[in-house]
Amino acid sequence: MKVLLTGSGGYIGIATAPVLMGRGHDVTGMDSGFYQSGWLYNGVKQLPRTIQQDIRTITAEDLAGYDAVVHMAELSNDPLGQLNPTITYKINHEGSVALAKAAKAAGVSRFIYMSSCSVYGIGEEGEVKTEESLSRPQTAYAECKVYVERDVAPLADDSFSPTFLRNATAFGPSPRQRFDVVLNNLSGLAWTTGKIAMTSDGTPWRPLVHILDIADAIGCVLAAPQAAIHNQIFNVGDSAQNYRVREIAEIVAEAFPGCELSFGTNDADNRSYRVSFEKINSQLPGFACKRDARVGAAQMREVFERIGMTDELFKAAPYTRLKMLQQLISTKQLDDDFFWRA
Ligand SMILES: NC(=O)c1ccc[n+]([C@@H]2O[C@H](COP(=O)([O-])OP(=O)(O)OC[C@H]3O[C@@H](n4cnc5c(N)ncnc54)[C@H](O)[C@@H]3O)[C@@H](O)[C@H]2O)c1
Repeated sequence: MKVLLTGSGGYIGIATAPVLMGRGHDVTGMDSGFYQSGWLYNGVKQLPRTIQQDIRTITAEDLAGYDAVVHMAELSNDPLGQLNPTITYKINHEGSVALAKAAKAAGVSRFIYMSSCSVYGIGEEGEVKTEESLSRPQTAYAECKVYVERDVAPLADDSFSPTFLRNATAFGPSPRQRFDVVLNNLSGLAWTTGKIAMTSDGTPWRPLVHILDIADAIGCVLAAPQAAIHNQIFNVGDSAQNYRVREIAEIVAEAFPGCELSFGTNDADNRSYRVSFEKINSQLPGFACKRDARVGAAQMREVFERIGMTDELFKAAPYTRLKMLQQLISTKQLDDDFFWRA
């Protein structure tokens, strides 16, 4: 298939393009390049040709000839979404819906949207969220995911099949590394300080998924018969990978020998949810997660050893989304609407 991958220069996108190309797809990347100054290590065999463009400027003409759009380009986590909620709604909600409409107008038959398990927000004790569960988004970022699903689903018809992938929290190494997701953050702390000292008690639930398992899920959606994916929502992950934050810390501490681990009593973060991944595992042909948190933590350590990871790199702006965007704004490289200044 001829595939346009938006957000191809991001944490998950940079790892997804080679997977889709390896499956025989003709991939073109598109990205505004917010994180282009960060490249933690060489490790991607194949990069797609890439267009530097903001999704808010894409028209149906730009999308002519594509069979599928895989849409990842957004302000991609809770803290970044809170930086300027108005712009978050403009990019993540309005931009994504406009992109889906443009794709449909251009005759693109498949539209895969990267949603998030953060739509579930908070859960009651013992509750396990399925695709049918009520959404309880807690942030602008999560609200936008709910709005995009709500507004894109009605576009579905015989010639336009959207699929909504509600990904668990991602982990694993990527040249466009992120240290603002829990497993990677704890790995960076373990390596640079030899300590994981959590102020919280670590009880919140956080389902995790490896970035390459997300890439495989996208590959499986592209390969699936239309009936299996048409206007479907799938939680992306594995039911065995619902961890408490505490367990994630224990797994990381084990992967970094000598790492001290302690917990506090606070629980400021109210985002906690357990998720069922039964649907994707039973209904998306060929999909199963292949990498768990132990594998991811070991991979993080291997990369750190290989590149001589430093505290400076761990704290560098390109690897923490909020820091990078704040830097681009304060140095006036981005304007008030997050477009590059000329
Ligand atoms: N990382 C996770 O834990 C996770 C979990 C669930 C869902 N997701 C979703 O997966 C997708 C990819 O996540 P990621 O972790 O790779 O994020 P990322 O922030 O690393 O990458 C997003 C990419 O999109 C680009 N981008 C942002 N706004 C843009 C715009 N207006 N026009 C063009 N490009 C733009 C950025 O430059 C960046 O390269 C996002 O939609 C995110 O919400 C991520």
